[in-house]
Amino acid sequence: MHAQETHIQVNQLIYPLFLYDGKGMKEEVKSLPGNYRWSLDKLIPEVEACLELGITTFVLFPAVDEALKDKTASYGFAKDNFYLHAIHTLKNTFPACCIMTDVAMDPYSSDGHDGFVLDGQIMNDETLPILAKMAVAQAQAGADIIGPSDMMDGRVGHIREALDENGFTEVSIMSYTAKYASAFYGPFRDALDSAPKAGDKKTYQMNPANKREALIEAQLDVYEGADYMMVKPALPYLDIIHMLKQNFELPIAAYNVSGECAMLIAACQNGWLSYEKAMPEMLMSIKRAGADVILTYFAKSFAEMRKKGLV
Ligand code: PBG
Repeated sequence: MHAQETHIQVNQLIYPLFLYDGKGMKEEVKSLPGNYRWSLDKLIPEVEACLELGITTFVLFPAVDEALKDKTASYGFAKDNFYLHAIHTLKNTFPACCIMTDVAMDPYSSDGHDGFVLDGQIMNDETLPILAKMAVAQAQAGADIIGPSDMMDGRVGHIREALDENGFTEVSIMSYTAKYASAFYGPFRDALDSAPKAGDKKTYQMNPANKREALIEAQLDVYEGADYMMVKPALPYLDIIHMLKQNFELPIAAYNVSGECAMLIAACQNGWLSYEKAMPEMLMSIKRAGADVILTYFAKSFAEMRKKGLV
């Protein structure tokens, strides 16, 4: 008899991985200890180890050379794009693994914004066809789940249509439904060198003070054909996770973002918190709030603890 209400299964965790072009590289992200920028050859055994631990789903983010960035993020769907090549190779090597991708202009944009910038303004509608091209290229490479993280209005519908037109009706979309203009993305932007060159992301990401607006975003995503809804960050937005879970039938994902993980790691490194206790508690709170799946940099570490019977 076991009456505990909330459980974490390893296959409910999605592991974010940073990918680098090149060979033989495994470089730690300074502001996110224990996480690395990988070249594909080094990543393959890492993915294999994770699969053995029971992690089935990975979200990949590319760290792109500055010289390849331009205003229209054209490298995002270029034929020789190393990220697309990596998706293809991983899917061929590990057919059972589920690959989620990132759709946004920022890794490829010389402006460092998720959308197309004209005269200092983020142009919503001009961004949509670029995102659609990126999504189709990723689906062609073998992506299972497309993750639009850009927060442009109308992108889910636009991407869905482009995927369907190209025969990718089986590829699903995990919409970054309620993505807030948060201060907790710092280590991620360090990892990818993707901080905006000018301005901030407040014109497209949500105001942290707004809750009801998330309901509008969620309604639009349902209407546009999203398969999963995500709330991001997770910890400072547990109320949003809870609210979406109460109001919608789609599965809810929560992104336990880089800054949330970094602050816990830092406190543990200082001996101020116990990692073995605080990390699983953090993940449990996100599940208890209503997340069905969690994107977290702790995925592998949690899976290792589970294997040892510690959690
Ligand atoms: C950008 C993107 C960001 C994250 C995922 N995709 C950062 C941003 O919006 O600037 C953040 C993830 C994290 O902090 O772990 N498209």
